[in-house]
Amino acid sequence: MIRQLAYFASAACFWVAFWPAGALAQAPAKPDAAKGQLIASQTCAACHAADGNSQISANPKLAGQFYEYLHKQLLNFKPQGSKKPERDNAVMMGMIGSLSPADLKDVAAYYASQKLKPAAAKDKDLAALGQKIYRGGNIATGVAACAGCHGPAGAGMPAQFPRIAGQFPEYVEAQLKAFRAGARANDPNGMMRGVVTRMSDREIQAVAEYVAGLR
Ligand code: HEC
Ligand code: HEC
Repeated sequence: MIRQLAYFASAACFWVAFWPAGALAQAPAKPDAAKGQLIASQTCAACHAADGNSQISANPKLAGQFYEYLHKQLLNFKPQGSKKPERDNAVMMGMIGSLSPADLKDVAAYYASQKLKPAAAKDKDLAALGQKIYRGGNIATGVAACAGCHGPAGAGMPAQFPRIAGQFPEYVEAQLKAFRAGARANDPNGMMRGVVTRMSDREIQAVAEYVAGLR
């Protein structure tokens, strides 16, 4: 009985002494979009525009993308010790080199809060082929439907599946080819690489054209 009391007393002391402090230390700081805006205007705007609606198709539109996805990409562009970054891009690696972990969260939160001005599809026939693949995949060659993960309208699904609707077709095409070649390999469980390995150049172009016009 006395031993039990002593045990409860010490257990209570433990919780009183450590639990509140531990909880505070573990609570992640909330990202600050206002601070992120400053970073965006100083460091990112030249390529992604101040509001994340990039003008040049090599630079992806960031506006309205999920915070979690943007933040993950920024972490992936950073080299881990002596290892190459998970997403190997010299330009982006240079851009974030001097940013702190909090900066990366803040700037991701800022761009996520902006409104997307979507790109457009220009080639109707190509987009029609793209729509077929987007919605139904290619059963003959074992290509999964994009809609299954990115949603029927390309709006994505937080937090893992990015929005792709309204993205530049050239950028989407380049990313699909990078996944196919294994040059981009930061997709969890190889989810994207599994889809694109069996896609032809024409199918990739078509689906990229369709995605650009998706709303
Ligand atoms: C010199 C031009 C340039 C600047 C400046 C720049 N970026 Fe980028 N960014 C790029 C390019 C090019 C890519 C596409 C990389 C690729 O092809 O994989 C990219 C990709 C990204 C991505 C991945 C988007 C996606 O859809 O996967 C994020 C996030 C990003 N940049 C954020 C930033 C932030 C935040 C800054 C400022 C701190 C910044 N960039 C500054 C050129 C730039
Ligand atoms: C099994 C689920 C799944 C399917 C099916 C899928 N994707 Fe993805 N896709 C993902 C995931 C997860 C990511 C994010 C990878 C990362 O974290 O960098 C992604 C990323 C992307 C990106 C990169 C976005 C960017 O901003 O850089 C594009 C483009 C894309 N997918 C297009 C497609 C297209 C087109 C199809 C159909 C041909 C498709 N996806 C099918 C899961 C999927």
